[in-house]
Amino acid sequence: MDRIQIRGGAALNGVIPISGAKNAALPLMIASLLTDQTLTLENLPRLADVAQLAHILGNHGVDYSVDGKRIGEDTGSGQTAHLRARTIVDTSAPYELVAKMRASFWVIAPLVARMGAARVSLPGGCAIGTRPVDLLLMALEKLGAQIDIDGGYAVAKAPKGLIGAEIEFPKVTVGGTHVAMMAASTAHGATLIRNAAREPEVADLAACLNKMGARIRGAGSSTIEIEGVARLNGAHHRVLPDRIEAGTYATAVAMTGGDLMLEGVGEDLLEEALEALTAAGATVTSDNRGVRVRRNGAGLKAVDIATAPFPGFPTDLQAQFMALMTRARGVSRIKETIFENRFMHVQELARLGASIKLEGDTAIVSGVKRLRGAPVMATDLRASVSLVIAGLAADGETIVNRVYHLDRGFERLEEKLGACGADIARIAG
Ligand code: EPZ
Repeated sequence: MDRIQIRGGAALNGVIPISGAKNAALPLMIASLLTDQTLTLENLPRLADVAQLAHILGNHGVDYSVDGKRIGEDTGSGQTAHLRARTIVDTSAPYELVAKMRASFWVIAPLVARMGAARVSLPGGCAIGTRPVDLLLMALEKLGAQIDIDGGYAVAKAPKGLIGAEIEFPKVTVGGTHVAMMAASTAHGATLIRNAAREPEVADLAACLNKMGARIRGAGSSTIEIEGVARLNGAHHRVLPDRIEAGTYATAVAMTGGDLMLEGVGEDLLEEALEALTAAGATVTSDNRGVRVRRNGAGLKAVDIATAPFPGFPTDLQAQFMALMTRARGVSRIKETIFENRFMHVQELARLGASIKLEGDTAIVSGVKRLRGAPVMATDLRASVSLVIAGLAADGETIVNRVYHLDRGFERLEEKLGACGADIARIAG
């Protein structure tokens, strides 16, 4: 297994091109199941999760091809993939595949919408919490699907097709909103989704579905209206930039000091996270090239945050921000409100010398003067990258084990950071 070796202490200076968003790419790829025509996705990140989902979709009958590299194109630009589900050859998704990537459960929506039947393994728990799918199934039931749980599988049936309905989510769910939008796009009649997730990835999926012929209004707000259409077509869509990747590098430069241009991303994708970084002592500006984040030699200030659905502080940046706060002056309270168990990085940050106490859903971080390099590992990708950020500021050498977690969600991490002055290398395992 590969490892990442970091020697801390170098500032970050330069330009980091931001890749296409993993969490937009995955639902967009799944939407290809809704049509027998080709969906072309540009700016698809080169990530293990994208490759894994392509494999899963292949089992359902999706032909997947990626354009070759053009002359003069650098490896930093995203790939263009063509997905075509001419016929669905299998409406079931087995445990071995769904267990590897939770988002693959979302195939249940296009499969039942298009084929009237789907049998998809329940994903089970994962490192960051229990993560049930009850709200996703509730949405499909509202749309007229009959749902049974059988032998660890969710079995959805709608032989006469889905029917538009009003769906009110009792809790904001990104996956639930994706599933409801995909399923309602070709349902008979109108659907109203209340308390929808407002994440930019939801708006990106809606934009793509609309290019495919769907009639969706309001995505990006908490009320989404969908007028069902008889069928969807192929389309061409560019995946939006990864706000979590951008927020991660913004946090990294706040940690090390220096000056980074995060190319291709807009401040609107990251508002609350950038406000927190500014309060901690970074300077954030933006222009049409991207977002620039700087910090000079001055010390970091402790800042309290609480994660919340978009536009709040993203749970997917909580671990990274905690790493930053380990070096701040004073005490910072970091509250996790989305996932009950997303604190695996706490023990590992402690191995680097951080002082963090857990009180229920809140981590209390007392800043320390220095971190010291050590071997560490983590069991999810955002926790892993928080250890990279801590390692960049730690004295001596940090080895981050289990790099496959990073490869699930960060494209060429060590190359991007290395090009900006970090002393970081991948050691083949
Ligand atoms: C998406 O997961 C992201 N994954 C997660 O990114 C992200 O952390 C999360 O949204 C929150 O922003 C992808 O987009 C692929 P939810 P999702 O449904 O859709 C509860 C990363 O690191 N809930 O919005 O699965 C749930 O337990 C990842 O890239 C129910 O109770 O998250 C959680 O507490 C990890 N019942 C809350 O809602 C349900 O049926 C929000 O979860 C569904 C969710």
